[in-house]
Amino acid sequence: MCASAILFQVIDIHSHIMPEIDDGARSLDEALEMAAIASEDGIEYMVSTPHMFNGLSSNPEPSEILERVAALNEAIGPNALKILPGNEVHISHEIVEQAKSNRVTKINQRNYMLVEFPQLTVPVGADELFYKLLLQGVRPILVHPERNGQIQTNPSIVADFIEHGVLIQVTAMSVTGQFGPAAKTCADALLRHDCVHFLATDTHRPLRRPPILSRGRDAAGAIIGDVRAAALVESNPRAVINGETLQVPPPIPFRSRPRSKRSLFSRFF
Ligand SMILES: [Fe+2]
Repeated sequence: MCASAILFQVIDIHSHIMPEIDDGARSLDEALEMAAIASEDGIEYMVSTPHMFNGLSSNPEPSEILERVAALNEAIGPNALKILPGNEVHISHEIVEQAKSNRVTKINQRNYMLVEFPQLTVPVGADELFYKLLLQGVRPILVHPERNGQIQTNPSIVADFIEHGVLIQVTAMSVTGQFGPAAKTCADALLRHDCVHFLATDTHRPLRRPPILSRGRDAAGAIIGDVRAAALVESNPRAVINGETLQVPPPIPFRSRPRSKRSLFSRFF
């Protein structure tokens, strides 16, 4: 394979393609259908990231993930989409110990880990948990913050995490508007403020949540330009699967929000 081919591989770091393990693919046939859609879209590597510790799986050990990834790759066949191991880990006070004791599967068994928040809130102490993960050499990637209610209200929370070493994955369907206006508005704001490092599919089904990155990349390109949008699905995820250090620019600050005082005074001036 020539070097240029490697440079332009499209990589999806977040998917639920593994069959019969969580709320993703319900059968091998469905997983194969998703693999075909992904290949058709130009995706060459897809990290399988079954849920952990959120009640949607039996919390598979890394050894089980590796066996299932091997079986899925065999079923997909050579010269097509390649599946890599991973996990999407629900945040809790146990997350540091879970990572330390190798209870979770980091992306391609390197040093990056997908971390999920609850849907509505940002957990108190999340920054400290991220810090402790970083101390033990695990770089957290916060998944789809644009779908979190508290972050939709105050996207600058994400900038604070980035300044402390956390990376950010936004879901392609949020950027295309398919998760509704609140997620779209937040995703666009994060893109404009240099607060997005990866686009991923977070695919669960062939039709309802398909493994398609190109539409999200193109929609992001309309906001940040095509070159930077391509990096979100090519060079940035490539660093992750290879376990390389990923340098990212500092976020563009969000306007500070002491609005209650200003709006009060603005009535008089
Ligand atoms: Fe997910």
